[in-house]
Amino acid sequence: MSYQEPMLRENALKDQVIIVTGGGSGLGKSMTKYFLELGAKVAITSRDLDKLQNTAQELMQATGGEVLAVTCDVRYYDQVESMLQQVLDKWGKVDGLLNNAAGNFISPTERLSANAFDVIIDIVLKGTKNCTLALGKHWIGIKQPKSTVLNIVTTYAYTGSAYVVPSATAKAGVLAMTRSLAVEWAKYGIRFNAIAPGPFPTKGAWDRLLPGDLANKLDPAKRVPVGRVGEHQELANLAAYLMSNFSAYINGEVITIDGGEWLKGAGEMNDLEQVPSEMWDRLEMMIKGKK
Ligand code: HXC
Ligand code: NAP
Repeated sequence: MSYQEPMLRENALKDQVIIVTGGGSGLGKSMTKYFLELGAKVAITSRDLDKLQNTAQELMQATGGEVLAVTCDVRYYDQVESMLQQVLDKWGKVDGLLNNAAGNFISPTERLSANAFDVIIDIVLKGTKNCTLALGKHWIGIKQPKSTVLNIVTTYAYTGSAYVVPSATAKAGVLAMTRSLAVEWAKYGIRFNAIAPGPFPTKGAWDRLLPGDLANKLDPAKRVPVGRVGEHQELANLAAYLMSNFSAYINGEVITIDGGEWLKGAGEMNDLEQVPSEMWDRLEMMIKGKK
């Protein structure tokens, strides 16, 4: 068995209806594909209808599943309500929401215009709030017994990170929302969890975070203790598990999937990794000699 293989049993998401924001590209597309393979029906949403329709065609052909492509800019509550109505008109219910849509780019914070900061906060934090509130009101209103929200954050939601300050600020807010509503809305049968991925190559992220030859200069695989970047299938495996009823007792959790990357940056003495093994005898003698 390999981490590149599908993990859950057949039909683990059979007849579940799931909305995936930002489902037309990157990780959203990969998670959608696996949800379909497990029997779910998936509505993919973003700002670009052509892209969504192409992805829907490709995934329906590849999996035999049902995909609905709906335009929805998550920054606008009325568009989110209209998207939800289109999903209900098509399938009559929704069981899960995957808040995956995001905007991000690297920049020294002092170079950002007020609008540049806002655009990231609006997509990531306000967008997640809009989808969560619309779905939550719907589920609570119809007394749906069971539903799931899964939020994609990042490891810097809890560490913070220079040069992506709007994204770090917004993702931290999404994590706080995840944990808060996991408690408040558990009584309505709504479960909330988050995934914090480390580096998983996608065009969207790499174009904006590692443009040009920055990808070679700052090779993300080198920052990861297990020595590689993530494979989309291993993220999809985790997302499908958290969406499914197999994880019914997991609520309010954030699961990091980063090969140990953030801890490597955090541990005070972790740079000692660079000390060659033959040097340790000499270092030990120097330390003992100080007694
Ligand atoms: C400084 C910038 C900028 C840059 C845009 N702006 N890019 N400022 N440096 N590189 C400014 C613009 O000048 C403008 O401000 C404001 O931001 C809005 O830009 P627009 O292009 O008008 O916005 P819009 O068309 O809505 O596009 C939003 C976007 C874009 C976020 C800027 O990149 C986008 O559409 N992104 C969606 C996909 C995405 O980002 N995927 C990556 C997710 S990766 P002014 O003042 O001029 O109006 C991710 C990984 C996390 O989240 C963790 C990794 C480990
Ligand atoms: P991506 O392909 O660029 O995905 C972002 C998606 O969000 C796009 O499909 C985009 O579609 C959509 N989107 C952006 N603004 C939107 C808006 N206003 N309304 C609706 N949809 C919008 O990048 P990705 O790498 O797959 O990122 C997916 C998620 O993983 C994000 O939450 C990101 O923060 C997270 N993440 C990624 C990594 C990584 O290494 N790749 C690491 C940690 C976390 P349109 O442009 O068509 O609207």
